[in-house]
Amino acid sequence: MIIAANFKTNHTRESTKEYIEKLNRYVSDLNSDDTVLVFPPSTALETFDLNDKISIGVQNAYATEKGSFTGEIGLEQIEEFGIKTILIGHSERRHVLGESQDEVVKKYDFYKSKGFKIVYCIGEPKEVREEGIESVIAYNFAQLEGIDISYENLIVAYEPVWAIGTGLTASNEQIEETLGLLKQKIKAPILYGGSVKVANTKEILDIKNCEGILVGTASWDVDAFCEMIGEARKIGRYL
Ligand code: PGA
Repeated sequence: MIIAANFKTNHTRESTKEYIEKLNRYVSDLNSDDTVLVFPPSTALETFDLNDKISIGVQNAYATEKGSFTGEIGLEQIEEFGIKTILIGHSERRHVLGESQDEVVKKYDFYKSKGFKIVYCIGEPKEVREEGIESVIAYNFAQLEGIDISYENLIVAYEPVWAIGTGLTASNEQIEETLGLLKQKIKAPILYGGSVKVANTKEILDIKNCEGILVGTASWDVDAFCEMIGEARKIGRYL
């Protein structure tokens, strides 16, 4: 399983350090083979000394080594911390910050060429879900356009936009049906994201074709995130 925490615009440098130290102790004591990914804000990046099951990633970066892109970070800033993991295509970047599929593809190609592990997010808005499963799949596949889905370091996160940060989780049936259809095309591991919390972690991880979770809000509390990792350990399907 892959258990990922997306801090978004939460936590400071200091609180991230405390969080990661606690997480590292927990994962080391648990002796689990699950993969744990943490995406802190870029101001909190550091070279942490971590258990080899944990990787730190960036939530976003520009498709450049360095240059004149005010407000952005590029490869040079990321590599300073030995980071080789990136989140691309998150719905907040697509829908709130207006990132187009073309821009997403550019980032994907650039960080793929640098060998990064890419957690690539897809997911439909509410009105598309209401149109039915065919529209849902067409929308999600359109978000894969231009992306090399056979890339060996790809992880896909299916996150319905209407379930992100809303407390509304897709039903287990909706998740199972969608993941089943996505899996016909995508060989990479697929995570589910959207209002995952301690109470529903086990049932979501038990869904066929679900190979992990990408957690926002509920991951900001380190104890809750550790509990989720503990739930994955009980299931014992390692990735
Ligand atoms: P959420 O966010 O867990 O707060 O719904 C998930 C995400 O945006 O990755």
